[in-house]
Amino acid sequence: TRTERVDLLVTDIGLLVTPPPGGVPRYGAEMCVVHQIEQAAIAIQGERIVRFGPEHDVRSWLGDTEIVETVSAGGRLVVPGFVDPHTHLVHGGSREHELSLKRSGMPYLEILAQGGGILSTVRATRAASEAALLEKASRSLDIMLLNGVTTIEAKSGYGLSLEDELKQLRVAKQLNSSHPVDLISTFMGGHAVPTEYADRSDEYVEFIVSKMMPEVALHGLAAFCDVFCEAGVFSISQSKRILEAGKQYGLISKIHADEIVSLGGAELAGEVGAISAEHLLAASDQGLGALAANGVIPVLLPGTSFNLGLKQHARAREMMDSYQLPVALATDYNPGSCPTESLQLIMMLASLNLKMTPEEILTACTINAAAAIGLASEIGSIEVGKQADITILDAPSLAYLPYHFGINHTFGVIKKGRIAVW
Ligand code: NIG
Ligand code: FE
Repeated sequence: TRTERVDLLVTDIGLLVTPPPGGVPRYGAEMCVVHQIEQAAIAIQGERIVRFGPEHDVRSWLGDTEIVETVSAGGRLVVPGFVDPHTHLVHGGSREHELSLKRSGMPYLEILAQGGGILSTVRATRAASEAALLEKASRSLDIMLLNGVTTIEAKSGYGLSLEDELKQLRVAKQLNSSHPVDLISTFMGGHAVPTEYADRSDEYVEFIVSKMMPEVALHGLAAFCDVFCEAGVFSISQSKRILEAGKQYGLISKIHADEIVSLGGAELAGEVGAISAEHLLAASDQGLGALAANGVIPVLLPGTSFNLGLKQHARAREMMDSYQLPVALATDYNPGSCPTESLQLIMMLASLNLKMTPEEILTACTINAAAAIGLASEIGSIEVGKQADITILDAPSLAYLPYHFGINHTFGVIKKGRIAVW
């Protein structure tokens, strides 16, 4: 059936590449299958895609339908808007003062144990006004959009007090309504133990559960709950307490698991039924099995292992080939372990260090990333009925993205049917 009007028609798409329709995360050999259409067009009505395919087919379907606006992609590559499913977008300050410590070889967890690292950003975030946090986060979000990203997840976790956690989450909520990029929020009161609770981490966990969570839920400030399950941060039992309590408040579990030490975070992700488990560099075979058995999506963050100078990387190939896990990729944008907004740099690192193919990388940054934040039926592929979130790239092929690195290939971005970048 034809529509009575098309608001935006994108023509002269040299190559359209998208995960196939169906809205499910993809893995294994199937994951390599992406639909490719040469000389394509996309018709959009309101916020949604109403038709796409070879341009001559779309045109004959359109007949004499009114077309409000037409834009030419100029023969370029067109893909679904990229999705970044793991960021620590809202925070105060930066940590370049720790660069020399890092370069001299001090480990990440050691800097944290000495009151720096995350705790340094906690001080800066507490000191910042809500308006200042909004301004800073908005600039990062602009960079993401200019890089072709149309939806992101954003975590709290640099407040670590009731008021400061709520402050961070309100900023994300405000940006979601004022900025073209869509944000979905994660409550991460369990990101570190604040100094005022040093040596009383169990009490802090109870504070998170009894004081923070009810407020977060009451104000509808988050969809997910995350915790940094790591040696010297939150133990398996503390992490479990936080995630299980989060579920009582309707918050879906996510977990920073087995990043540095093999603690059993992946196993816990399976046990609590998390939607995703992040990092996973040190995840055990049993942990990967638990992810697969429980439909947990591994969100890999190769920018973090790269920037921490680790020799080890997440076992992406094994996850995909042996465990049939639908791998997603994200920036982990944060002021410590991964200060970059560039998902395109992450794509290059996924190719270099995780040995993912260009098709797997596209899948990991679109439909699988969408699935990791519960949005696979709305975004993540170019599909009739889905949100018209589309990125136009100045690249001749998909493989060109991880190949020609360190620059931004984005030419244009359409978000919810509107031209956001051109
Ligand atoms: O995902 N690992 C814990 N959290 C962040 C880093 C946060 C920071 O260093 O400020 C991460 O890498
Ligand atoms: Fe993170």
